[in-house]
Amino acid sequence: MCGIVAYVGPRDSADLIMAGLKRLEYRGYDSAGIAILDREGRLDTRKRAGKLGALAEELVQHPIGDGGTGLGHTRWATHGGPTDRNAHPHLSEDGRLAVIHNGIIENFAELKAELVADGVVFRSETDTEVAAHLLARAYRRSGDLTEAFRDVVRRLRGAFTLLAVHQDEPGVVVGARRNSPLVIGLGEGENFLGSDVAAFVEHTKRAVAVGQDEIVTIRPDSVEITDFSGGHVDGDEYEVAWDAKAAEKGGWPWFMTKEIHEEPDALANTLLGRTRDGLVVLSDLGDRLSDEVLAGIERIVLVAAGTASYAAEVARYAIEAWARVPVAVELAHEFQFREPLLDERTLVISISQSGETMDTLVAVQHARAHGARTLSVCNTQGATIPRESDGVVYTHAGPEVAVASTKAFVSQIAALYLVGLHLGRIRGALDDATHRALVDDLLAAPEKLRAVIQDSWTRIETLAHWMADTHSVLFLGRHVGFPIALEGALKLKELAYIHAEGFAAGELKHGPIALVDHGQVVFVVVPSPRHSAALHAKVVSNIQEIRARGARVIAIAEQGDAAVIPFADELIPLPLTGPWTEPLLAVAPLQIFALELANAKGLDVDQPRNLAKSVTVE
Ligand code: AGP
Repeated sequence: MCGIVAYVGPRDSADLIMAGLKRLEYRGYDSAGIAILDREGRLDTRKRAGKLGALAEELVQHPIGDGGTGLGHTRWATHGGPTDRNAHPHLSEDGRLAVIHNGIIENFAELKAELVADGVVFRSETDTEVAAHLLARAYRRSGDLTEAFRDVVRRLRGAFTLLAVHQDEPGVVVGARRNSPLVIGLGEGENFLGSDVAAFVEHTKRAVAVGQDEIVTIRPDSVEITDFSGGHVDGDEYEVAWDAKAAEKGGWPWFMTKEIHEEPDALANTLLGRTRDGLVVLSDLGDRLSDEVLAGIERIVLVAAGTASYAAEVARYAIEAWARVPVAVELAHEFQFREPLLDERTLVISISQSGETMDTLVAVQHARAHGARTLSVCNTQGATIPRESDGVVYTHAGPEVAVASTKAFVSQIAALYLVGLHLGRIRGALDDATHRALVDDLLAAPEKLRAVIQDSWTRIETLAHWMADTHSVLFLGRHVGFPIALEGALKLKELAYIHAEGFAAGELKHGPIALVDHGQVVFVVVPSPRHSAALHAKVVSNIQEIRARGARVIAIAEQGDAAVIPFADELIPLPLTGPWTEPLLAVAPLQIFALELANAKGLDVDQPRNLAKSVTVE
């Protein structure tokens, strides 16, 4: 949600910042802008509504001066529509200071009223502009940009990553953060700031995450971090584990196409090195999540949003079955307002690809404040949520750039399965033979998933192109197939802008079956008859019920499932696999379907309307 990049050093910062914004565009893409302190010491800005291409075009029409200090922003609008005027950077009245911002300044109305009463004329409808005016005033008092930040951040409520440059301080960018991400890239004679490491990973892999309520001042040859009171902070440097190529399209038509093809590797990498003698061992979870502590946990709550919450829903079945501990799933944004019962025997597991989703972060903070133990399942090294949790299990999916989550989803399920198996072992709830069989099944899943993606793509593409005019699609599943149905519906909504609903197949007769009319397309995730004949039979009955009412059934079922073949208008076969790995295989055809339907409608697959990859506002 808004991408931020800044540079100080000897190079031409405009090109470098535009390249960084290109890599961050997935975070928001309704407008973009840059500010450069040019070689003559002037502060110049360009900004445009629309995707980054519009700003690039503007820079061709009206080039900006060269200079080694600059910042850039790609926006996902919160306050004020996506217009040229509301695009960042925002300038102080004298035009000498430029600000970019990610987050929401919740008390902006009262700050604005105060500034207006003092004669300030606002040029945008954003909350950000108050920060520009406040910083300029504070700067006039101290003559020091870092000091001005210290003054102003104390007055701001809400979430912010705020960056500024001042014409009188060339070679300096100052940033501050609260509840919104900011990472420093350490170079040789140059330094960077970014919302995430993608902003600068092509230039340096040395990174330091800026902590909560900290201010950072970068110059070409120095980086200084302080807390909001001015106390020195030692940042923890880490090396970025992936290289710039991993975040490039590499010849694929869309990032999402590439990322679906990367799912088998994402899955395999998440499992890699986490078993010993055929059993899962998670040995580095930290003192607050020691085996002894986890053995005494009485309740688990999984908190997440969107796709990550569906990964949680799949894992709930598994963790409860393996660790014999009650597991609940809560949407992160509902969690704190429900005043959940929490204590030190409650384990709250957050699931987040970005590790920056504000709803999920707030849920984790709430859980910690009320004494619960917190574990993060996250795909982003050094992100805020893992840093604010007692322990972390990283999914090793590599950078996910397409807004629609795909490879992160399967790796989240895999990581949560690892947690479930680990808990099952240390709590003595799972015998070793069963545990080993489950691990074997998991380890075999990546290659089966590869086969599903390869074998089903063309068929699904044809199907999607036939259905380009479809207005409504339903998805049904039971047990772990139910969250897969929900995920299939979410993918279709976000990518193809089609009404789509996922239901537990058993729920259909309690109301939603009224939606089924002649020609209604219904995807059904069918469990294997080899694992539970009863469950399978129920789903087959549900298929009959909707067929009797005219539905067109697309079944995703185990190959050779004779009970389904006669009733499916289309059948997408899955290889034989265990009951817990079925959802990992079944989701891929649904992801491909959503992608290809969006393609058939000529839509932007990677950057659907109104969305952003990382949702850093509540
Ligand atoms: C799914 O395609 C979306 N991108 C969205 O639902 C996403 O999964 C959700 O916003 C959570 O993001 P996170 O995993 O980064 O926390």
